[in-house]
Order: sequence, then structure tokens, then C-alpha cells
Amino acid sequence: MTNNLMPEVLISEDEILHRVDQFAEQISTEYKDKGELVLVGVLKGAFILLADLSRRLTVPHRVEFIAVSSYGRSSTSTGAVRMLMDVREDIKDKNVVIVEDIIDTGHTLHYLISLFENRAPASLRTCVLVRKASRAEVDVEVDYLGFDIPDVWVVGYGLDFAERSRTLPYIGVVTPDN
Ligand code: IMP
Ligand code: MG
Repeated sequence: MTNNLMPEVLISEDEILHRVDQFAEQISTEYKDKGELVLVGVLKGAFILLADLSRRLTVPHRVEFIAVSSYGRSSTSTGAVRMLMDVREDIKDKNVVIVEDIIDTGHTLHYLISLFENRAPASLRTCVLVRKASRAEVDVEVDYLGFDIPDVWVVGYGLDFAERSRTLPYIGVVTPDN
């Protein structure tokens, strides 16, 4: 794998930000007068989406983070998910939106949804920027979805390849070297 300096553009910065505007508008409308809203960003990949989304919301909300990691090789999901850092505040009776960068096999988000459902939130929804639909191993419901993409490795806008390219403003494809 190579060429992390200038990966080929899959989703441009304009397209991403336009979609984030739409997320914010929709979430702001739907959570108006609904009680406490908590956005939970999944570290590390969702940190940029969470920052852009939260600053566009016109409803009061809090921001929390959770960190999880898949067992196994660093860039491939094995299905087993492990908690590295939990949210700090109790989400019981709160309206929670999990903010995630990408769904690949679906195991990570599936784990987080079960985890949070057990904590009795007032409501629980998910906001995901990109999804590799063809890779799904478990069904996960996404309430706010940005883009369906093919089975390629993407970087940028929070997403990395071995910790590189996270801060690219667009989503690009990392292609095999040879
Ligand atoms: P899942 O549990 O298989 O859905 O995978 C979720 C995690 O794998 C994501 O939160 C990412 O951290 C990582 N991941 C999967 N595909 C990609 C990709 O194309 N680029 C960067 N990270 C990815
Ligand atoms: Mg992630």
C-alpha cells in the first residue's frame, strides 16, 4: 500500500461538508425540544466529523468520546471489539447519537449500540459518514448516513491508514502499490 501523500479523491471536501450541513440541519430539527442531546464520537476516526457536526448544530448538546479497538491486526476487523475508554457521563435518559467515521464489517457499531442500549438512554441513533455496504457481516441500523462506498481502503477526514492521512480534508483511496 502506498501513496498516502496524495490519495485519489473519492469524496471531495465540498461533498463531505455539504452532507455534514444536512446532518446538522436534520438533527437540529429532530432533536428540538426533545431533552438532553449527547453526541458520542468514536475515537479516533470520528473526531473531525464530530467537531464539524457539533459546531453546526443549532440545538444544545453535549459532546462525549468513546474509544474502542478491534482485536487482531491493526487495520482489519476480526469481530471482537474491546473498550479502551468509556464515556464520562451517564447516558441514562439522554438522547444519544453515536458519531462514527466508517462502517466496514459493522462489528464496532454493533458492539456500541448493544453497549449503550443496556444503559437505558431516552433514545439512541447513529450518524456515520461512510459505509462499505458490501463488507457487512452484521446488520447495523444507521439513522444518518453520509455515503455508501465500494470495498476500498479510505483515508482522510479522520480516517487513517496506519495512523497516516487522518487530516486530509477529503476522503481518498489508498491503492495497493503494485
Ligand atoms: P468494523 O468494525 O469492521 O465496521 O470496522 C470499523 C473500524 O475499522 C472503523 O471504525 C475504522 O477504524 C476501521 N476501518 C475500516 N475500514 C476502514 C478504512 O477504509 N479506512 C480507515 N479505517 C477503516
Ligand atoms: Mg472508527
